[in-house]
Amino acid sequence: MKIILLGPQGSGKGTQASRLAEKNGAKHISTGDIVRAEIKSGSDLGKKVQEYNDRGDLVPDETIIEMFKPHLDGADAWILDGFPRNESQAKALDEALDELGITLDKAVALEAPDDDLVARLSGRRQSEATGKIYHVEHDPPPENSSDDPGPFIQRDDDTEEAIRNRLNIYHEQTEPLKDYYERQNLLATVDAMQEIDAVTKDVLGAVGER
Ligand code: AP5
Repeated sequence: MKIILLGPQGSGKGTQASRLAEKNGAKHISTGDIVRAEIKSGSDLGKKVQEYNDRGDLVPDETIIEMFKPHLDGADAWILDGFPRNESQAKALDEALDELGITLDKAVALEAPDDDLVARLSGRRQSEATGKIYHVEHDPPPENSSDDPGPFIQRDDDTEEAIRNRLNIYHEQTEPLKDYYERQNLLATVDAMQEIDAVTKDVLGAVGER
């Protein structure tokens, strides 16, 4: 499995990518997680990318491509979550795959209306211990679990202002990638407003797995 998950913020890219990775052993590569890990490390690069992250802006292409590329090396099955987000990143990915002699199987676009996404993201919680994503209503964090002790925190960029900014950037820069992959006959679309399990089933169907 070598797939890209496209979709607006809150459509469930991270949720679905971690379920697919758990199911078939593919590597879940999330550029959002890479950015947050760099911020947590307190490095100079982390300080630089934090400004973009907290505003909900995209990290500059050159920087994110350098941060992303090493994660692709050596993995023979992967799910890209949050990369690429514009045409210049898509072209950089095409070049990296060419260099590695790898072919992309599918770009799966998760689709959902903006207003529902704002509501979803305000209920999102992420485990500090495992990075697993939950939702206070739709997928509540476990209580007293040794598998995932938490704490379950709200992300710094899950404010309404930053969410709206991220959605605007998505429509301007990332949504056109649906045409980019359609032209290569690689695009599949999935209704992300269904229950989480139903979305997983449709994504697996779209990539020819069960
Ligand atoms: P990133 O972490 O990728 O954030 P994002 O794009 O804003 O996407 P989200 O994580 O918000 O959405 P998601 O679709 O993964 O939703 P989730 O599964 O969590 O990036 C963060 C920042 O890093 C960016 O703003 C940017 O600064 C930087 N960055 C990252 N990549 C970059 C790039 N390529 N270029 C430049 N900068 C980059 O689900 C959301 C919630 O909904 C959860 O609570 C979940 O439990 C719930 N949920 C999921 N599915 C369902 C469902 N079917 N029904 C009900 N609830 C559901």
